[in-house]
Amino acid sequence: MSAWAVLVAAGRGERLGDDRPKAFVRLGDLPLLAEPLRRLDDSEWVDAIVVVAPPEWEEPAILCAEEIGASKVSACVTGGATRVESVRVGVAEVPEDAAVVLVHDAARPVLPDEVIPRLLEPLGRGWDGAVPGLPLADTVKRVQRDAVVETLPRDELWAVQTPQAFVAPVLRSALDGAGDATDCASLVEAAGGRVTVVPGDERLLKVTTRADLERVSQWL
Ligand code: CTP
Ligand code: MG
Repeated sequence: MSAWAVLVAAGRGERLGDDRPKAFVRLGDLPLLAEPLRRLDDSEWVDAIVVVAPPEWEEPAILCAEEIGASKVSACVTGGATRVESVRVGVAEVPEDAAVVLVHDAARPVLPDEVIPRLLEPLGRGWDGAVPGLPLADTVKRVQRDAVVETLPRDELWAVQTPQAFVAPVLRSALDGAGDATDCASLVEAAGGRVTVVPGDERLLKVTTRADLERVSQWL
């Protein structure tokens, strides 16, 4: 089963507020992008990688891949205005004969390798997609203006991370003409695909703020 990874790194990182895109802020001694890229490159489960870079940062992305000696990078393409757009341009570089696509946020640099086989296994059992998730600790309420309108059943709620794994043709067709969404699985769900949740990992925290960057740097 050939698995391609699409590493989306084209966001601006506005909430982090650095002078450069989030994928290029320093994490340890290297740009943040180096960490998830090295982990995907080292994974025996990943055959090839497409990197989606911010406009004008394609060259630094390629240099970063060279610096860490990544050998599986097949293409580095320019991302779009939204995450879905960036995923779409990345997936367009995946060859037709690829069986599985793993879409991963560069903003989640600490990718434990053991998460990947957890995601691939259900695809072999007929699921269209698999996502890593963590059960919620807090109670979640739906609020309009400042009034609580609903308290959601916590035992049914999961915080979902990336990488998200999909049967390649299913993801491709879900991306066709899709609107915006915060993750790929929701597009597959909306298209009628069956998506399962597998255990995620705390270390897959998404770097949004400075404090997140601090936390993640302790897990390197
Ligand atoms: N992403 C992307 N293309 C976009 C927007 C986001 O490839 N147009 C990627 C980001 O690089 C990141 C992932 O999607 O790896 C999750 O996005 P997010 O954490 O929101 O990152 P940013 O959009 O960069 O941050 P912000 O929303 O604070 O600007
Ligand atoms: Mg964003």
